[in-house]
Amino acid sequence: MTTPHELLEVLKQVKYPGFSRDIVSFGIVRDIQIGSHGVTVDLAMPTASDDAVTQIRRDVEAAIAGATDLPVEVSIERAPPRPAPGPRTARTGIPGVRSVVAIASGKGGVGKSTVAVNVACALAQRHAVGLLDADVYGPSVPMMLGLDEERPQVRPDRRIVPIEKFGLRAISMGMFVGERTPVIWRGPMVTKLITEFFRNVEWGELEYLILDLPPGTGDAQLTVAQQVPLAGGVIVTTPQDVALLDVKRGITMFQQVNATVLGVVENMSFHICSGCGARAEIFGHGGGEQMARQFGVPFLGAIPLVRDIRAAGDRGVPIVVADPQHPQSRAFIEIAGAVETQLEERAAGMPSGG
Ligand SMILES: Nc1ncnc2c1ncn2[C@@H]1O[C@H](COP(=O)(O)OP(=O)(O)O)[C@@H](O)[C@H]1O
Ligand SMILES: [Mg+2]
Repeated sequence: MTTPHELLEVLKQVKYPGFSRDIVSFGIVRDIQIGSHGVTVDLAMPTASDDAVTQIRRDVEAAIAGATDLPVEVSIERAPPRPAPGPRTARTGIPGVRSVVAIASGKGGVGKSTVAVNVACALAQRHAVGLLDADVYGPSVPMMLGLDEERPQVRPDRRIVPIEKFGLRAISMGMFVGERTPVIWRGPMVTKLITEFFRNVEWGELEYLILDLPPGTGDAQLTVAQQVPLAGGVIVTTPQDVALLDVKRGITMFQQVNATVLGVVENMSFHICSGCGARAEIFGHGGGEQMARQFGVPFLGAIPLVRDIRAAGDRGVPIVVADPQHPQSRAFIEIAGAVETQLEERAAGMPSGG
């Protein structure tokens, strides 16, 4: 005789499409009942795409069929359709926050945080912008904004006040533990922390909340996707590992949770000599653009590899703030503009130019 508990174990082998995490650990499985008529599995998938729903249904049916001869019925609860663009809050569920934009990459070290910080600062010239560092394993936002020593105020009602810098409101795990503290986080802790950052931070009125996601497709990504409808996702890649598979995974991940892929950014695209200004295409150039075309998503721009970018990041003043006229700053500002254009086009229901 099979028990619900045993079937739950079986469902731990079913991954959420596009993610490395299983559906049980994400709390998608709400109930398993075994009755005289067979097995009923109740799932709740608030942000899933139709494709993801279809695939999970198939995978769950197959997994249960492999464990018992009883007939299986899978019932899937979906969230109501996303409300049309309207008053703030309506789209994101975070009071006051209009659009949440996630910056993702397949692997670390490609400049995801650099892009997140500089694009956020560029957008902050014209809008109210928040930056949520969801990379709890390697938070680099505090250093890049020069906030290593800052400790956010936690009010008696447990609301967290984000730190303001360069016109941004920022929050990061690194502000609580210090970024050199090695943190070993288990999945449920990551989920809890990110949920806390969404729900309990006093973001106030924001046009954009930019998320610096950890690399890959794990707990943080799915938590984010389940907690808030994303207005869109940006994928950062580098040419040397024109990591086709990584970019494809990123695109799949966003699509599976119904988030629009706003486009691909190619970072460290070519080298500009800080002495003579000469441009060298050390890794070959244009891979990101080709890749974007291949996957049918927009190409948002290329950022050269320049020592000044790193130096600015290490000094705690992003280059778009330190030197807005710098060619690299202009690259970031153009990418910020491309992100806005994509968001506006999507909101207006226009087809993407990608
Ligand atoms: N275009 C660039 N030119 C020079 N250095 C860069 C550039 N982009 C990122 N870096 C540097 O590379 C390192 C990794 O970047 P980071 O943004 O932390 O990557 P990720 O968030 O993807 O792990 C940092 O030291 C950063 O300053
Ligand atoms: Mg990072």
